[in-house]
Formats: sequence, C-alpha cells, structure tokens
Amino acid sequence: MSTEIRSKRITTRDIRARKGGTPIVSLTAYTTPMARLLDPHVDILLVGDSLGMVLYGLETTLAVSLDMMIAHGAAVVRGSRAACVVVDLPFGSYQESREQAFRSAARLMAETGAGGVKLEGGREMADTIAYLVARGIPVMGHIGLMPQAVHVAGGFRAHGRAEDEAAAIHADARAVADAGAFAVVVEGTVEPLARAVTESIAIPTIGIGASPACDGQVLVIDDVLGLFNDFTPKFVKRYAELAPLVEQAAQAYAADVRSRAFPAAQHCFGAAKPKAQD
Ligand code: KIV
Repeated sequence: MSTEIRSKRITTRDIRARKGGTPIVSLTAYTTPMARLLDPHVDILLVGDSLGMVLYGLETTLAVSLDMMIAHGAAVVRGSRAACVVVDLPFGSYQESREQAFRSAARLMAETGAGGVKLEGGREMADTIAYLVARGIPVMGHIGLMPQAVHVAGGFRAHGRAEDEAAAIHADARAVADAGAFAVVVEGTVEPLARAVTESIAIPTIGIGASPACDGQVLVIDDVLGLFNDFTPKFVKRYAELAPLVEQAAQAYAADVRSRAFPAAQHCFGAAKPKAQD
C-alpha cells in the first residue's frame, strides 16, 4: 500500500479480498505514537501478544492478560485512522470454550474499537472461529509456530519439515479458512509448506518466517527498528538500528545533566538574561 492519504479504514473484508493480489503489509504496534508513525504505511496494525515479551520483558506470551490487550489495542486504534487494527486474544482467554472466546473477543472489539481479533490454533479452534464469525467478530487465524503453545511444541523452531507435521499444518490451514477466518498468520514454517498452504486456501496467508510465498508479511516492529541489542531471529530483517541511537542519546543527556549544560537558558521559563559583557 502506498503512502497516499486514505480516507477510511481498511476492513477485514478488504483484507480478505486481497488474496493473491498485492502483498498485504502488516507490522505490530502496541502504543499510540508508534501506531501514528506506522499507520500510513501498512494495511494491518497487529496488536500482538508479543507485547508481553517486547514491552513487559516476559519470557513468553503466556502471562499476557485480556486487560493488557485491551489497553494496548485501544491505544493503537486511537493512534491510527487507515489501517485495519487486529488485536490478539491472549492465552487462557479463549481456549476453554467458544462461549468464553466470544466473551473475550466481544470485550476486545467493544473496548478497543479494533476491526478484528486473532487467535492461535488450527483444527481444534475451527468450531470457535465459526462461532465468533457467526456472531459478528472477524477472526484472523494463526497456525504453524504458535507461541502460546511453546511448551507443548518444545520451543521456538521452524515447523513443517517432517511430513506428518506438514500435513497437520496444512489441515489446520484448511480448517481455519473453512471456519470463516478472514486471513491466517503462518508462523515459522518452511517455504514449501507455506507455498502449498497459500496456494490451497481461499483466504490470505500472512507470513512471519514463512517465506515470500505468503499473501502478506508481518514482523514485530521492535525487531524491524533494531530496538534490541540481543539475538535477531533468521526471518527478521532489521530496517534500522535504533538501539545504539537510544543509548547515545541517553548518554549525551546524562553528561549534559551532570555538567549542568542542560537545561540551558532556552529550556527555562523566566530565566535571567545573561548580562551584556563590557
Ligand atoms: O504476537 C504477535 O506479535 C504475533 C505476530 C508475531 C504474528 O502474533
């Protein structure tokens, strides 16, 4: 999507209609200022539960609560006007029953103003997805590597190398599409499988670590901006290196405060004008 001013928000129906067309651009956003910066450039702002790790320093996404997602989802909606905002249902807020999923998704939609919700899971979640969609809640699926299931999956690793695992992910994709999801995130999945899945289902696939064969791509914004100094996963391309800039700015500020170079006269209210020199 180009950077021209768009007069109305992209809907989940628009996203669904982009299957096989110009690739769908998505980035995560968690705050109003970041949403403002990204909104003109993306089709989907994803308020991912990755915020638990990125913003809150958690080891996994499992401790993220519905209230956290609502607070950040509402912040992103306030900071955007064109992109379709999709908010993650966090771990434990939808797996118990489709009724529980509806209550959580209804709160997310009503209290954030988002265009849709995302939930992890394939065949086991198809019934829930159909239930939500039938009741007015657009759903984006999430298959392949599912961070909320990290303890069952045995860590963060690429999926779909083994034939049986590939067949299972393919079946998950079909189930999510048949249940009425408007798109599906395919995470950490080998290229041939991502391609086969994309070619065989009628809804857009949004890849993360799943090759250019997908109908769109999503990345975590802090990875894209290089806001971390530590490990960068293979599938991430860093488009900026902001971490050293932040460190340099903090260092320069600290030096100025300690030397009293900051605040200077122009930063002060009612500061005495320096006396003219003879
Ligand atoms: O939580 C998240 O940010 C996500 C994306 C990485 C797809 O689910």
